[in-house]
Amino acid sequence: MTLHLVMVGPPGAGKGTQAKQLAKAYQLAHLSTGDMFRDQVARHTELGKLVDPIMKSGGLVPDDLTVAIVRDRLQQPDCTSGVVFDGFPRTVAQAQALDALLHEMGASIALVPCITVNDEAVVERISGRYTDRNTGQIYHLKFNPPPAGADLFQRPDDQEAAVRQRLQEYYRKTEPLIAYYQQRGVLQQFDGMQSIDDVFSAIDQAIRQL
Ligand code: AP5
Ligand code: MG
Repeated sequence: MTLHLVMVGPPGAGKGTQAKQLAKAYQLAHLSTGDMFRDQVARHTELGKLVDPIMKSGGLVPDDLTVAIVRDRLQQPDCTSGVVFDGFPRTVAQAQALDALLHEMGASIALVPCITVNDEAVVERISGRYTDRNTGQIYHLKFNPPPAGADLFQRPDDQEAAVRQRLQEYYRKTEPLIAYYQQRGVLQQFDGMQSIDDVFSAIDQAIRQL
């Protein structure tokens, strides 16, 4: 059986943290459009040059570019056994495009875990977040401290002004996805104010009950 999950939640909710653990536990491909765009920026590709200023300001990359990279990524062999989508879709148009792509593959979305956190937690989590340059592992100085000697970086869009813009974009363009997936009966809310392990256990339990 293939499993397709869509992580929804504001910036800093823990989508990436949970998606990595779910991918490992269920042998799923982890498809993070944010990671894919950051990789394009780091490699100075044409797409990278285009999306760099958009990401730095906290805006959303246009739907057509985003859907195109997802369509390509879904052709990779590791996606055949299932995918955890992280940060995609982010607009209703992207959600409709994903439905069509999955339909072509004979697949559908089994569960949309929506991680809820308050705005104060978003700011605290994002300001303490560091990522390992070599492994992509996500850490937090207080909540999930990195090991000594790790080669860490902070994201350029984690500055206060960009975070505020990302939150606005989330409420305006991404939150409507909650109703979209609720209507399809696949959305479940998870309290993201719990510990990382407790959030994982709750999502894990919901998957087992599918
Ligand atoms: P993206 O990379 O997707 O960023 P985001 O949605 O803003 O989300 P984050 O990655 O900041 O947060 P997260 O929920 O993954 O939290 P994390 O697990 O790291 O997108 C970046 C940009 O790319 C966008 O702004 C846009 O420009 C562009 N883009 C990407 N996808 C796009 C799309 N589909 N369409 C258009 N544009 C797109 O956790 C955060 C911190 O909290 C970490 O330090 C972690 O250790 C800690 N933490 C996690 N869980 C807990 C917990 N339960 N308790 C305490 N601490 C916790
Ligand atoms: Mg993330």
